[in-house]
Amino acid sequence: MKISVFRERAEGEYRVAATPETVRKFVALGATVAVEEGAGISASIPDAAYQEAGAEMGPLAQVAKDADIVLGVRAPDVSSLNGAKPGAWVAALFDPFMQKDLVESYAKAGFEALSMEFMPRITRAQSMDVLSSQSNLAGYKAVLAAANEYGRAFPMMMTAAGTVQAARAFIMGVGVAGLQAIATAKRLGAQVSATDVRSATKEQIQSLGAKPIFVESVAGIEGEGSGGYATEMSEEYQKAQAELVSSHIAKQDIVITTALIPGRAAPRLISDAQIASMKPGSVIFDLAVAQGGNVEGSVADHVVEKHGVKIIGFSNTAAHLAADASALFSRNHYNFLSAFWDKEQGAPVLDEEIGDAVRLTKGGAIVNERLKG
Ligand code: NAI
Repeated sequence: MKISVFRERAEGEYRVAATPETVRKFVALGATVAVEEGAGISASIPDAAYQEAGAEMGPLAQVAKDADIVLGVRAPDVSSLNGAKPGAWVAALFDPFMQKDLVESYAKAGFEALSMEFMPRITRAQSMDVLSSQSNLAGYKAVLAAANEYGRAFPMMMTAAGTVQAARAFIMGVGVAGLQAIATAKRLGAQVSATDVRSATKEQIQSLGAKPIFVESVAGIEGEGSGGYATEMSEEYQKAQAELVSSHIAKQDIVITTALIPGRAAPRLISDAQIASMKPGSVIFDLAVAQGGNVEGSVADHVVEKHGVKIIGFSNTAAHLAADASALFSRNHYNFLSAFWDKEQGAPVLDEEIGDAVRLTKGGAIVNERLKG
Protein backbone atom coordinates (compact mmCIF):
# COMPACT_ATOMS: atom_id res chain seq x y z
CA MET A 1 0.00 0.00 0.00
CA LYS A 2 1.68 3.14 -1.21
CA ILE A 3 0.29 6.48 -0.06
CA SER A 4 1.58 9.46 -2.04
CA VAL A 5 1.53 13.14 -1.21
CA PHE A 6 2.15 15.75 -3.90
CA ARG A 7 3.28 19.31 -3.61
CA GLU A 8 0.21 21.53 -4.10
CA ARG A 9 0.30 23.40 -7.39
CA ALA A 10 -2.68 25.78 -7.23
CA GLU A 11 -1.82 29.44 -6.85
CA GLY A 12 -2.03 30.63 -3.25
CA GLU A 13 -2.24 27.09 -1.92
CA TYR A 14 0.28 26.88 0.91
CA ARG A 15 -1.15 23.85 2.66
CA VAL A 16 0.03 20.25 2.39
CA ALA A 17 -1.98 17.05 2.79
CA ALA A 18 0.32 15.19 5.18
CA THR A 19 2.60 16.16 8.04
CA PRO A 20 5.42 14.19 9.66
CA GLU A 21 2.90 13.24 12.37
CA THR A 22 0.48 11.63 9.93
CA VAL A 23 3.29 10.08 7.85
CA ARG A 24 4.48 8.32 11.02
CA LYS A 25 0.96 7.08 11.73
CA PHE A 26 0.44 5.75 8.20
CA VAL A 27 3.81 3.98 8.36
CA ALA A 28 2.72 2.45 11.68
CA LEU A 29 -0.36 1.06 9.89
CA GLY A 30 1.99 -0.70 7.47
CA ALA A 31 1.79 1.72 4.52
CA THR A 32 4.67 3.09 2.51
CA VAL A 33 4.49 6.88 2.28
CA ALA A 34 6.07 8.90 -0.53
CA VAL A 35 6.15 12.70 -0.36
CA GLU A 36 7.13 14.98 -3.22
CA GLU A 37 10.20 17.07 -2.51
CA GLY A 38 9.34 20.53 -1.22
CA ALA A 39 5.69 19.59 -0.53
CA GLY A 40 5.72 21.02 2.99
CA ILE A 41 7.95 24.06 2.57
CA SER A 42 5.14 26.63 2.44
CA ALA A 43 3.63 25.05 5.58
CA SER A 44 6.98 25.27 7.38
CA ILE A 45 7.74 21.56 7.09
CA PRO A 46 11.20 20.76 5.69
CA ASP A 47 11.83 17.60 3.65
CA ALA A 48 14.10 16.28 6.39
CA ALA A 49 11.18 16.19 8.85
CA TYR A 50 9.19 13.94 6.50
CA GLN A 51 12.22 11.73 5.97
CA GLU A 52 12.73 11.37 9.69
CA ALA A 53 9.09 10.31 9.99
CA GLY A 54 9.71 7.52 7.50
CA ALA A 55 8.64 9.04 4.17
CA GLU A 56 10.43 8.45 0.89
CA MET A 57 11.09 11.80 -0.78
CA GLY A 58 11.35 12.24 -4.53
CA PRO A 59 10.21 14.15 -7.60
CA LEU A 60 6.58 13.98 -8.73
CA ALA A 61 6.94 11.10 -11.23
CA GLN A 62 8.64 8.90 -8.65
CA VAL A 63 6.10 9.73 -5.95
CA ALA A 64 3.15 9.09 -8.28
CA LYS A 65 4.54 5.78 -9.56
CA ASP A 66 2.55 2.78 -8.26
CA ALA A 67 0.53 4.93 -5.84
CA ASP A 68 -2.51 3.20 -4.36
CA ILE A 69 -3.77 6.34 -2.64
CA VAL A 70 -2.89 9.95 -3.36
CA LEU A 71 -3.64 12.53 -0.67
CA GLY A 72 -4.11 16.14 -1.68
CA VAL A 73 -5.42 19.37 -0.29
CA ARG A 74 -6.74 20.22 -3.76
CA ALA A 75 -7.20 17.41 -6.26
CA PRO A 76 -4.26 17.32 -8.66
CA ASP A 77 -4.69 17.26 -12.43
CA VAL A 78 -5.01 13.71 -13.68
CA SER A 79 -1.88 14.25 -15.78
CA SER A 80 0.19 14.32 -12.59
CA LEU A 81 -1.16 10.89 -11.64
CA ASN A 82 0.75 9.23 -14.45
CA GLY A 83 2.10 5.91 -13.23
CA ALA A 84 -0.35 5.57 -10.32
CA LYS A 85 -2.04 2.16 -10.02
CA PRO A 86 -5.18 1.69 -12.11
CA GLY A 87 -8.19 2.61 -9.98
CA ALA A 88 -6.01 4.46 -7.44
CA TRP A 89 -7.85 6.60 -4.91
CA VAL A 90 -7.33 10.33 -4.70
CA ALA A 91 -8.66 11.95 -1.53
CA ALA A 92 -8.72 15.75 -1.72
CA LEU A 93 -10.92 18.79 -2.23
CA PHE A 94 -12.54 18.50 -5.66
CA ASP A 95 -15.01 21.39 -5.52
CA PRO A 96 -17.27 18.93 -7.38
CA PHE A 97 -20.15 21.26 -8.26
CA MET A 98 -17.84 23.83 -9.81
CA GLN A 99 -15.14 21.59 -11.29
CA LYS A 100 -17.19 19.22 -13.41
CA ASP A 101 -14.39 18.86 -15.99
CA LEU A 102 -11.93 17.77 -13.35
CA VAL A 103 -14.34 15.16 -12.01
CA GLU A 104 -14.99 13.88 -15.53
CA SER A 105 -11.27 13.62 -16.20
CA TYR A 106 -10.91 11.42 -13.12
CA ALA A 107 -13.75 9.19 -14.30
CA LYS A 108 -12.18 8.90 -17.74
CA ALA A 109 -8.78 8.02 -16.30
CA GLY A 110 -10.36 5.31 -14.13
CA PHE A 111 -9.32 6.78 -10.79
CA GLU A 112 -11.49 6.84 -7.69
CA ALA A 113 -12.00 10.46 -6.70
CA LEU A 114 -12.88 10.88 -3.01
CA SER A 115 -14.22 14.34 -2.32
CA MET A 116 -13.34 15.43 1.20
CA GLU A 117 -15.95 18.21 1.05
CA PHE A 118 -18.68 15.60 0.65
CA MET A 119 -17.90 14.03 4.02
CA PRO A 120 -21.31 13.44 5.63
CA ARG A 121 -22.22 15.47 8.70
CA ILE A 122 -22.55 12.60 11.09
CA THR A 123 -20.98 12.32 14.50
CA ARG A 124 -18.43 9.64 13.61
CA ALA A 125 -17.21 11.63 10.59
CA GLN A 126 -16.58 14.83 12.54
CA SER A 127 -12.87 14.09 12.90
CA MET A 128 -12.63 13.54 9.13
CA ASP A 129 -14.36 16.76 8.14
CA VAL A 130 -12.00 19.18 6.40
CA LEU A 131 -14.73 21.80 5.91
CA SER A 132 -15.01 22.10 9.70
CA SER A 133 -11.31 22.05 10.45
CA GLN A 134 -10.50 24.63 7.81
CA SER A 135 -13.54 26.85 8.48
CA ASN A 136 -12.61 27.07 12.11
CA LEU A 137 -9.19 28.52 11.25
CA ALA A 138 -10.72 30.72 8.55
CA GLY A 139 -13.17 32.27 11.03
CA TYR A 140 -10.28 33.17 13.31
CA LYS A 141 -8.11 34.57 10.52
CA ALA A 142 -10.98 36.64 9.09
CA VAL A 143 -11.29 38.57 12.34
CA LEU A 144 -7.54 39.15 12.56
CA ALA A 145 -7.40 40.32 8.93
CA ALA A 146 -10.31 42.69 9.54
CA ALA A 147 -8.65 44.00 12.71
CA ASN A 148 -5.50 44.61 10.71
CA GLU A 149 -7.33 46.81 8.19
CA TYR A 150 -9.31 48.63 10.88
CA GLY A 151 -7.82 51.97 11.86
CA ARG A 152 -9.07 51.66 15.42
CA ALA A 153 -8.71 49.24 18.33
CA PHE A 154 -11.10 46.39 19.19
CA PRO A 155 -11.19 46.59 23.00
CA MET A 156 -12.35 49.46 25.11
CA MET A 157 -9.27 51.15 26.56
CA MET A 158 -9.26 53.67 29.37
CA THR A 159 -6.08 55.67 29.07
CA ALA A 160 -4.75 58.89 30.56
CA ALA A 161 -5.45 60.50 27.19
CA GLY A 162 -9.08 59.43 27.23
CA THR A 163 -11.23 56.42 26.46
CA VAL A 164 -11.11 54.34 23.29
CA GLN A 165 -14.54 52.83 22.54
CA ALA A 166 -14.91 49.09 21.91
CA ALA A 167 -15.48 48.08 18.29
CA ARG A 168 -18.85 46.65 17.35
CA ALA A 169 -18.50 43.42 15.38
CA PHE A 170 -21.36 41.68 13.59
CA ILE A 171 -20.99 38.08 12.39
CA MET A 172 -23.38 36.97 9.64
CA GLY A 173 -23.65 33.19 9.33
CA VAL A 174 -22.94 31.19 12.46
CA GLY A 175 -21.62 27.84 11.26
CA VAL A 176 -18.17 26.63 12.19
CA ALA A 177 -16.37 29.73 10.83
CA GLY A 178 -18.91 32.13 12.32
CA LEU A 179 -18.69 30.61 15.80
CA GLN A 180 -14.91 30.93 15.75
CA ALA A 181 -15.22 34.50 14.43
CA ILE A 182 -17.53 35.36 17.36
CA ALA A 183 -15.11 33.82 19.85
CA THR A 184 -12.11 35.59 18.31
CA ALA A 185 -13.80 39.01 18.16
CA LYS A 186 -14.89 38.57 21.79
CA ARG A 187 -11.36 37.67 22.85
CA LEU A 188 -10.10 40.83 21.16
CA GLY A 189 -12.57 42.84 23.18
CA ALA A 190 -15.23 43.76 20.62
CA GLN A 191 -18.96 44.02 21.34
CA VAL A 192 -20.23 41.14 19.24
CA SER A 193 -23.61 40.37 17.66
CA ALA A 194 -24.47 37.66 15.15
CA THR A 195 -27.21 36.33 12.89
CA ASP A 196 -28.06 33.16 10.96
CA VAL A 197 -31.04 31.64 9.19
CA ARG A 198 -30.85 28.51 11.32
CA SER A 199 -32.70 29.26 14.54
CA ALA A 200 -30.65 26.60 16.37
CA THR A 201 -27.68 29.00 16.32
CA LYS A 202 -29.39 31.50 18.62
CA GLU A 203 -28.40 29.65 21.78
CA GLN A 204 -24.87 29.08 20.46
CA ILE A 205 -24.47 32.82 19.89
CA GLN A 206 -25.69 33.55 23.41
CA SER A 207 -23.43 30.92 24.94
CA LEU A 208 -20.43 32.74 23.47
CA GLY A 209 -21.57 35.97 25.09
CA ALA A 210 -22.71 37.62 21.86
CA LYS A 211 -26.08 39.15 20.99
CA PRO A 212 -28.34 37.28 18.54
CA ILE A 213 -29.98 39.39 15.81
CA PHE A 214 -32.84 37.35 14.35
CA VAL A 215 -35.85 37.72 12.11
CA GLU A 216 -38.77 37.01 14.44
CA SER A 217 -41.63 38.32 12.35
CA VAL A 218 -41.75 35.59 9.68
CA ALA A 219 -43.53 32.49 11.01
CA GLY A 220 -42.52 28.88 10.42
CA ILE A 221 -38.88 29.47 9.62
CA GLU A 222 -36.38 26.88 10.72
CA GLY A 223 -33.76 27.51 8.05
CA GLU A 224 -32.15 24.12 8.44
CA GLY A 225 -32.01 21.69 5.54
CA SER A 226 -30.43 18.26 5.35
CA GLY A 227 -27.15 17.54 7.11
CA GLY A 228 -27.30 20.66 9.24
CA TYR A 229 -26.80 22.93 6.24
CA ALA A 230 -28.86 26.03 5.52
CA THR A 231 -31.57 26.08 2.88
CA GLU A 232 -32.41 28.95 0.56
CA MET A 233 -34.91 31.20 2.33
CA SER A 234 -38.31 32.47 1.12
CA GLU A 235 -38.60 35.91 -0.45
CA GLU A 236 -40.64 37.08 2.53
CA TYR A 237 -37.87 36.01 4.88
CA GLN A 238 -35.13 37.56 2.75
CA LYS A 239 -36.99 40.88 2.77
CA ALA A 240 -37.46 40.82 6.55
CA GLN A 241 -33.81 39.84 7.02
CA ALA A 242 -32.60 42.67 4.75
CA GLU A 243 -34.62 45.23 6.75
CA LEU A 244 -33.36 43.97 10.09
CA VAL A 245 -29.77 43.82 8.90
CA SER A 246 -29.94 47.28 7.34
CA SER A 247 -30.76 48.99 10.59
CA HIS A 248 -28.20 46.94 12.52
CA ILE A 249 -25.34 47.13 10.06
CA ALA A 250 -25.27 50.92 10.00
CA LYS A 251 -24.07 50.83 13.61
CA GLN A 252 -21.29 48.26 13.09
CA ASP A 253 -17.54 48.78 12.75
CA ILE A 254 -16.61 45.24 11.70
CA VAL A 255 -18.77 42.79 9.75
CA ILE A 256 -17.69 39.21 9.02
CA THR A 257 -19.90 37.30 6.58
CA THR A 258 -19.66 33.50 6.35
CA ALA A 259 -22.93 32.37 4.74
CA LEU A 260 -22.82 29.42 2.37
CA ILE A 261 -25.39 27.13 0.80
CA PRO A 262 -23.87 23.89 -0.56
CA GLY A 263 -23.92 23.58 -4.35
CA ARG A 264 -25.13 27.14 -4.89
CA ALA A 265 -23.65 30.58 -5.11
CA ALA A 266 -23.24 32.20 -1.70
CA PRO A 267 -26.34 34.20 -0.66
CA ARG A 268 -26.01 37.98 -1.03
CA LEU A 269 -26.24 39.45 2.47
CA ILE A 270 -24.92 43.00 2.08
CA SER A 271 -25.87 45.40 -0.71
CA ASP A 272 -24.03 48.49 -1.85
CA ALA A 273 -26.73 50.66 -0.22
CA GLN A 274 -26.11 48.92 3.10
CA ILE A 275 -22.36 49.49 2.75
CA ALA A 276 -23.09 53.17 2.14
CA SER A 277 -25.00 53.31 5.45
CA MET A 278 -21.94 52.20 7.43
CA LYS A 279 -19.47 54.56 9.07
CA PRO A 280 -16.31 55.44 7.14
CA GLY A 281 -13.41 53.32 8.38
CA SER A 282 -15.57 50.24 8.97
CA VAL A 283 -14.29 46.92 7.64
CA ILE A 284 -16.18 44.01 6.10
CA PHE A 285 -14.54 40.60 5.66
CA ASP A 286 -16.35 38.40 3.11
CA LEU A 287 -15.44 34.79 3.89
CA ALA A 288 -17.64 33.60 1.02
CA VAL A 289 -15.81 35.68 -1.59
CA ALA A 290 -14.54 32.58 -3.43
CA GLN A 291 -18.11 31.20 -3.69
CA GLY A 292 -19.55 34.33 -5.29
CA GLY A 293 -19.47 36.55 -2.21
CA ASN A 294 -21.96 37.59 0.47
CA VAL A 295 -21.05 41.24 -0.06
CA GLU A 296 -21.73 43.32 -3.16
CA GLY A 297 -18.46 44.39 -4.75
CA SER A 298 -16.08 42.15 -2.78
CA VAL A 299 -13.06 40.97 -4.77
CA ALA A 300 -10.94 38.00 -3.70
CA ASP A 301 -7.50 38.91 -2.34
CA HIS A 302 -8.06 42.65 -2.75
CA VAL A 303 -8.98 45.44 -0.38
CA VAL A 304 -11.84 47.28 -2.09
CA GLU A 305 -12.89 50.61 -0.61
CA LYS A 306 -16.51 51.67 -1.08
CA HIS A 307 -18.19 54.62 0.62
CA GLY A 308 -15.19 54.75 2.95
CA VAL A 309 -15.70 51.11 3.99
CA LYS A 310 -12.98 48.53 3.35
CA ILE A 311 -14.18 45.22 1.97
CA ILE A 312 -11.77 42.31 2.12
CA GLY A 313 -11.80 38.57 1.55
CA PHE A 314 -9.27 35.87 0.77
CA SER A 315 -9.78 33.28 -1.93
CA ASN A 316 -8.30 30.70 0.44
CA THR A 317 -8.44 31.94 4.02
CA ALA A 318 -7.24 28.79 5.77
CA ALA A 319 -4.09 28.77 3.61
CA HIS A 320 -3.08 31.97 5.41
CA LEU A 321 -2.50 29.74 8.45
CA ALA A 322 -0.76 27.07 6.39
CA ALA A 323 0.98 25.21 9.21
CA ASP A 324 -2.07 24.69 11.44
CA ALA A 325 -4.39 24.25 8.48
CA SER A 326 -2.11 21.51 7.12
CA ALA A 327 -1.84 19.81 10.50
CA LEU A 328 -5.64 19.62 10.84
CA PHE A 329 -6.26 18.73 7.18
CA SER A 330 -3.69 15.93 7.42
CA ARG A 331 -5.29 14.56 10.57
CA ASN A 332 -8.68 14.62 8.83
CA HIS A 333 -7.15 12.48 6.05
CA TYR A 334 -5.57 10.12 8.56
CA ASN A 335 -8.75 9.82 10.66
CA PHE A 336 -10.68 9.04 7.47
CA LEU A 337 -8.41 6.30 6.10
CA SER A 338 -7.42 4.76 9.43
CA ALA A 339 -11.06 4.42 10.52
CA PHE A 340 -11.56 2.03 7.61
CA TRP A 341 -8.20 0.28 7.75
CA ASP A 342 -8.52 -3.46 7.19
CA LYS A 343 -5.55 -5.09 8.87
CA GLU A 344 -5.65 -8.27 6.77
CA GLN A 345 -5.76 -6.43 3.48
CA GLY A 346 -3.37 -3.73 4.69
CA ALA A 347 -5.64 -1.18 3.01
CA PRO A 348 -8.73 0.87 3.82
CA VAL A 349 -12.14 -0.54 2.92
CA LEU A 350 -14.84 2.14 2.95
CA ASP A 351 -18.34 1.46 4.20
CA GLU A 352 -21.45 2.49 2.29
CA GLU A 353 -22.50 5.49 4.36
CA ILE A 354 -19.24 7.37 4.11
CA GLY A 355 -17.82 5.73 0.96
CA ASP A 356 -20.89 6.46 -1.17
CA ALA A 357 -21.05 10.02 0.16
CA VAL A 358 -17.48 10.97 -0.74
CA ARG A 359 -16.87 8.81 -3.84
CA LEU A 360 -17.30 10.82 -7.03
CA THR A 361 -15.93 8.42 -9.64
CA LYS A 362 -15.33 4.69 -9.91
CA GLY A 363 -14.85 2.20 -12.73
CA GLY A 364 -14.72 4.93 -15.36
CA ALA A 365 -17.98 6.65 -14.39
CA ILE A 366 -19.30 9.44 -12.18
CA VAL A 367 -21.10 7.58 -9.40
CA ASN A 368 -22.05 10.23 -6.85
CA GLU A 369 -25.79 10.85 -6.35
CA ARG A 370 -25.26 14.58 -5.68
CA LEU A 371 -23.66 15.01 -9.10
CA LYS A 372 -26.38 13.16 -10.98
CA GLY A 373 -29.55 14.94 -12.09
P1 NAI B 1 -21.78 26.60 6.04
O1 NAI B 1 -20.33 26.86 5.85
O2 NAI B 1 -22.51 25.75 5.06
O3 NAI B 1 -22.54 28.00 6.17
C1 NAI B 1 -22.13 28.96 7.11
C2 NAI B 1 -23.33 29.48 7.88
O4 NAI B 1 -24.07 30.40 7.08
C3 NAI B 1 -24.33 28.43 8.34
O5 NAI B 1 -24.52 28.51 9.73
C4 NAI B 1 -25.60 28.78 7.56
O6 NAI B 1 -26.77 28.47 8.29
C5 NAI B 1 -25.44 30.26 7.39
N1 NAI B 1 -26.29 30.88 6.34
C6 NAI B 1 -26.64 30.39 5.12
N2 NAI B 1 -27.43 31.28 4.47
C7 NAI B 1 -27.56 32.37 5.29
C8 NAI B 1 -28.24 33.61 5.18
N3 NAI B 1 -28.95 33.92 4.09
N4 NAI B 1 -28.16 34.48 6.22
C9 NAI B 1 -27.45 34.17 7.33
N5 NAI B 1 -26.78 33.02 7.49
C10 NAI B 1 -26.84 32.13 6.48
O7 NAI B 1 -22.03 25.98 7.51
P2 NAI B 1 -21.05 25.13 8.40
O8 NAI B 1 -20.08 25.99 9.09
O9 NAI B 1 -20.46 24.09 7.56
O10 NAI B 1 -22.01 24.50 9.54
C11 NAI B 1 -23.38 24.24 9.37
C12 NAI B 1 -23.85 23.26 10.49
O11 NAI B 1 -23.32 21.96 10.32
C13 NAI B 1 -23.47 23.68 11.88
O12 NAI B 1 -24.56 23.42 12.72
C14 NAI B 1 -22.32 22.78 12.23
O13 NAI B 1 -22.18 22.58 13.63
C15 NAI B 1 -22.75 21.51 11.54
N6 NAI B 1 -21.60 20.63 11.26
C16 NAI B 1 -21.67 19.31 11.64
C17 NAI B 1 -20.61 18.46 11.37
C18 NAI B 1 -20.68 17.03 11.78
O14 NAI B 1 -21.57 16.65 12.52
N7 NAI B 1 -19.80 16.16 11.28
C19 NAI B 1 -19.42 18.94 10.67
C20 NAI B 1 -19.47 20.34 10.29
C21 NAI B 1 -20.54 21.13 10.59
